[in-house]
Amino acid sequence: MAFLTGVGVLSVILGQALAEPGVISPLARACPGYSNNSDVVCINHYASAMPPTFDRPHSSGGVFFPNDTFVGTQIPSDPSWQLVKNATFVVFDERGSQILGPSPKLEHIFASRNDSIHEGPVYVPSLDAIIFSLPHQGIYEQQIIHLNHGSTPRLDNYTTTPPVYAVNGGKLFNGKVYWAVEAGFSFLSPQNGSLVAQRPGIYELDPSTGEVTVLLNNYFGQAFNSPNDLWIDAQGDIWFTDSWYGYAINVTEYPVLRPATYRFRPSTGRVSIVEDSIAQPNGIGMSPDGRTMYISDTGVTDFENYPANGTLPRYTYNPLGGNSLYAFDVLPSPAGSYITSKRPIYLAQTFGDDGFHVAQNGYLLGAEGGGVTVLSAYGEVLLRIEAGFTINNIQFAGPERKDLWLFGEGPISRVTWDLVGMANE
Ligand SMILES: *[C@@H]1O[C@H](CO)[C@@H](O)[C@H](O)[C@H]1NC(C)=O
Ligand SMILES: *[C@@H]1O[C@H](CO)[C@@H](O)[C@H](O)[C@H]1NC(C)=O
Ligand SMILES: *[C@@H]1O[C@H](CO)[C@@H](O)[C@H](O)[C@H]1NC(C)=O
Ligand SMILES: *[C@@H]1O[C@H](CO)[C@@H](O)[C@H](O)[C@H]1NC(C)=O
Ligand SMILES: *[C@@H]1O[C@H](CO)[C@@H](O)[C@H](O)[C@H]1NC(C)=O
Ligand SMILES: *[C@@H]1O[C@H](CO)[C@@H](O)[C@H](O)[C@H]1NC(C)=O
Ligand SMILES: *[C@@H]1O[C@H](CO)[C@@H](O)[C@H](O)[C@H]1NC(C)=O
Ligand SMILES: *[C@@H]1O[C@H](CO)[C@@H](O)[C@H](O)[C@H]1NC(C)=O
Repeated sequence: MAFLTGVGVLSVILGQALAEPGVISPLARACPGYSNNSDVVCINHYASAMPPTFDRPHSSGGVFFPNDTFVGTQIPSDPSWQLVKNATFVVFDERGSQILGPSPKLEHIFASRNDSIHEGPVYVPSLDAIIFSLPHQGIYEQQIIHLNHGSTPRLDNYTTTPPVYAVNGGKLFNGKVYWAVEAGFSFLSPQNGSLVAQRPGIYELDPSTGEVTVLLNNYFGQAFNSPNDLWIDAQGDIWFTDSWYGYAINVTEYPVLRPATYRFRPSTGRVSIVEDSIAQPNGIGMSPDGRTMYISDTGVTDFENYPANGTLPRYTYNPLGGNSLYAFDVLPSPAGSYITSKRPIYLAQTFGDDGFHVAQNGYLLGAEGGGVTVLSAYGEVLLRIEAGFTINNIQFAGPERKDLWLFGEGPISRVTWDLVGMANE
């Protein structure tokens, strides 16, 4: 005992280890300008050196744990970490505070149905409404949020003619809505009970009439697996990811095509593969200048080791399965653009990026596990929104496209801040 210093004695008494040189302390602080707002917290230096006793829960047994996140990390020796656990907006970089504006808010607006995820939100300015979907077996209609600018938004069912089963992704282009549709099983129309036959594919909705036309439902006679999300470039070519989630939720057959990303030209009907190396391509989008394409991978959903016992969804969680966001260079050609120079620019910090959108200033937004991650155009993490429930997709809405609506496995929520979305995004 005699040769212990005073601090050493205290450490022994409290059962604590001495801090390692370089450990960042505190890890978190109130953000400059937000000292009264415990919903906003700043992370110091990306918390790059934590006290060595940190412990992040990791998913196991093929099941994803919602606490398998950065903010779920246990760091008992740093009391500032409690600020992070309490906050909605976790800021990593000054550009993160800039997009929050003076009084950011996350509000839960609607309960909607609790027997389905919520997906494919599309803001339709001519209706001042968001049309979104409930991709789940047995749900054959969509829903609509009338924003009623200035008064209370209203939620309604939305059924198209003919009805469409299991929309998963959507975008607006020249006033029409384009849908990536997963279901290949026939179903009974919620309007008149007649049998509707459908194949997975790309569908067009005229929001002024509610009428739907099919644009694409096969690759040389082979049905697609289940188109998941899409993006439409300046020439009107529709880029879509075809992954396996329609089978996962049992709205279509066992997959027969390798997961891939395609470019489809509606004016000629021609469809071309553009990417076939991502395990489960999911969200897709392009930079405002049209020169960079982004595709996210949710290969952490593992269909190989799924136990054939009837439980849905039909995948297990495999943390080694791949969950990077990839960037590509876009090269024009007379046949349509190609993508090249695949490079990972961001490894998801939790689960994987599902819905993906690009803001007007080029920032990238991924619906990722229990929140939304905002990245710079180069994949630097600027901000996390911790929503408290799994987010599947997001949509900028409102006349200025400044409100970000969140859709997933919980309430339908709205973030009010200073980041602006692109038209058609
Ligand atoms: C923060 O709260 C304190 C005490 O309630 C108040 O005096 C101060 O004006 C507030 N500051 C800001 C920037 O709102
Ligand atoms: C994390 O979540 C899992 C399952 O949801 C649970 O078993 C585990 O105890 C949690 N860990 C912590 C540290 O809360
Ligand atoms: C975090 O939230 C809990 C519960 O609301 C509260 O008791 C606690 O004081 C908060 N901690 C900090 C550091 O803000
Ligand atoms: C889901 O919603 C239904 C109908 O609104 C309600 O009866 C049920 O309790 C809810 N289930 C859960 C788990 O919240
Ligand atoms: C929407 O449709 C569901 C299922 O068909 C039905 O139970 C519900 O009452 C409808 N809601 C409205 C507002 O019409
Ligand atoms: C049901 O509605 C569809 C349009 O969605 C129509 O084509 C069909 O003829 C209708 N069937 C009956 C029996 O009314
Ligand atoms: C199916 O298997 C999984 C993983 O072993 C298990 O968690 C689940 O409870 C099983 N479901 C049924 C219905 O047996
Ligand atoms: C999958 O869908 C088919 C056809 O609708 C149905 O017969 C089967 O019971 C469903 N399986 C599960 C696990 O829900």
